[in-house]
Amino acid sequence: MKFDILTIFPEFFVTPFSFGIFNKARERKIVELNAHDIRDFTEDKHRTVDDAPYGGGGGMLMKPEPIGRAIEQIKLKGPKSLVILTTPGGELFSDETARELSGYDQLIIICGRYEGIDERVRELYVDREISIGDYVLSGGEHAAAVIVDSVSRFVPGFLGNALSPESDSFRESLLEHPQYTRPEDYMGSRIPEVLLSGNHQEIREWRRKESIKRTFLRRPELLDRARLTIDDISIVDDLKKTERPIFKAYIALVHYPVYNNRLTIITTAFTNLDVHDISRAGKTYGIEKFYLVQPNSEQQRLAERVLRHWTEGEGPALNKSRAEALEFVVIRDSLGDAVKDIESIEGIRPKLVVTDARPRNNMIGYRELRETMMSNSSDPYLLVFGTGWGLSEEIMENADYTLKPVSGYTGYNHLSVRSAAAIILDRLFSCTI
Ligand code: ADE
Repeated sequence: MKFDILTIFPEFFVTPFSFGIFNKARERKIVELNAHDIRDFTEDKHRTVDDAPYGGGGGMLMKPEPIGRAIEQIKLKGPKSLVILTTPGGELFSDETARELSGYDQLIIICGRYEGIDERVRELYVDREISIGDYVLSGGEHAAAVIVDSVSRFVPGFLGNALSPESDSFRESLLEHPQYTRPEDYMGSRIPEVLLSGNHQEIREWRRKESIKRTFLRRPELLDRARLTIDDISIVDDLKKTERPIFKAYIALVHYPVYNNRLTIITTAFTNLDVHDISRAGKTYGIEKFYLVQPNSEQQRLAERVLRHWTEGEGPALNKSRAEALEFVVIRDSLGDAVKDIESIEGIRPKLVVTDARPRNNMIGYRELRETMMSNSSDPYLLVFGTGWGLSEEIMENADYTLKPVSGYTGYNHLSVRSAAAIILDRLFSCTI
């Protein structure tokens, strides 16, 4: 594998790659690293590599000609060669990308500097743009060094025979289990007994469990990609019970005041399907209570009769889980009454989160709201769903947060409230996202 780096600071790459495993692999000709000074490809006497942007604005941009000339000269004809630009706007670098890039014969890495690079370099030469994380570095050199280091570990022969990249963290989308070496007791902290047992099967099981636990606690999103066995899943299920994040969330389904299709305020009718489905979804995702907001007394009686059918008499005997879901449904005359109810339970007014299919200014995203709810776990939240054509403006403008509409790529947006509620609950409270 040949790494060719285009940089205005070639000295940057001397020390980091001149010792250890990389240097050995270099001596064995497994990898080759050349740092090229972009200034060597200029044609003016000042060796200029930057210029002011067209259209004004601060900062300088990297000129296209020296970079273009460098690539034309360096790029190997024939072998599999790829041109990479390091930039905070690129795809996020991962172990999987490193593995994929190790399949090329030559990687040419352009280290971005200044305020960026002329767009035509991207169009004409760059095959992939890579970011090493959501932070801004003063230049792409650090990013290039990271890419070289992690790609080379996948190059056949780089690690020698004894080591394999397959045993490292991330290889299976799981983080590595804890490791210990001598002494057995360090500052009063002993190594886990199982590691002294000599029982290799038990040690393997312990390591697998610790690896799953560490991933679950630190990087749960990685578990989504991991191929787990049934035994692994039962480890995850145990962790879910003991490590459940704390949040206090309530939901309300509002039948008044909501709009009809002519945007007049109306009271909608009780819908059996909505109540069943939303209560089951609410129960699944750990919601405290489900408020049916319905001021019409006839409608209230109808809803009560349906709820009683499942929660009293023969209902629970026929379908226990349905009874469990419908038991946490309560009927209130107004949203204000539901808020008061929660305030009396929690000792603090809940934060109101409203949902709507229509866009508004300043809406909050799912990830941010999820993080906010989980990090302020003593604050109760009330998620408010509207029936009909959506919640009235009065409710919308008094909310603490408005969630972004759920949407696909089609422009068609007519989800039933029970579908929208299920999707929103999953985005906010699912176990791995
Ligand atoms: N250049 C500046 N910041 C960067 C980042 N996070 N990743 C890749 N290149 C960069």
